[in-house]
Amino acid sequence: MKIIMLGAPGAGKGTQAKQIAAKYSIPHISTGDIFRANIKNGTELGKKAKTYMDQGLLVPDELTCDLVMDRIQQDDCKNGFVLDGFPRTIPQAESLDAALEKIDQKMDYAIDVDVPDENIINRMGGRRACLNCGATYHIVSIPPKKEGICDHCGNALVLRDDDKPETVKKRLDVYHEQTQPLIDYYAKQNILKTVDGTQPMEAVFDAIVSVLEA
Ligand code: AP5
Repeated sequence: MKIIMLGAPGAGKGTQAKQIAAKYSIPHISTGDIFRANIKNGTELGKKAKTYMDQGLLVPDELTCDLVMDRIQQDDCKNGFVLDGFPRTIPQAESLDAALEKIDQKMDYAIDVDVPDENIINRMGGRRACLNCGATYHIVSIPPKKEGICDHCGNALVLRDDDKPETVKKRLDVYHEQTQPLIDYYAKQNILKTVDGTQPMEAVFDAIVSVLEA
């Protein structure tokens, strides 16, 4: 099963992608997590990506596409994968289609987790992230057991640099301009499924499972 998670920043793509990956035993591939791991490790890619991410801008396609194409050709992706945060532009979607076409495959589902902008700003301000293992929490809806500490690995939780309100606003603008057109792109391919992302997390997950098992 090859799945793309679509949706605005903070719509809950990562939260849902982790659960889908666990339920169907497929890898969760998050380009945001890959960039954050590179930033943490001080790699050249991380240094380049950070300059864009801190401004709420997209990392250029040439730094992003090869990375994902390499990843989806690894052995653990043979039975499928869930892409979170990729593609984010029409050229990225076209690269993905072209890479899969070469091996006679195509994506199965593009799931749009639909959340209006007004809900997003609130969610992002409350998000806390573990930069060590990638787990995410929300100070009200999904708090960690011990305040400020990751349940999974015990590292300190942080407010991501790009979750500050002015950067979130920019990320939303960039989303509407560059990523939202993918909704039409995948609707034309007949693989678009939309779920209401304003529901509680468990209800969003149930809606996604219903789509995948219909
Ligand atoms: P990325 O990490 O992909 O960020 P994003 O798309 O902006 O998405 P987020 O991780 O912010 O949100 P999410 O939808 O996963 O929501 P989450 O589940 O955490 O990318 C970051 C940056 O990297 C980009 O801005 C860009 O610069 C760069 N980048 C990455 N990929 C790229 C690409 N392909 N091309 C170019 N550049 C790229 O949930 C949010 C919060 O809400 C959490 O606190 C969560 O607990 C809570 N929550 C989730 N679901 C619910 C619910 N149903 N009800 C209540 N609260 C909920």
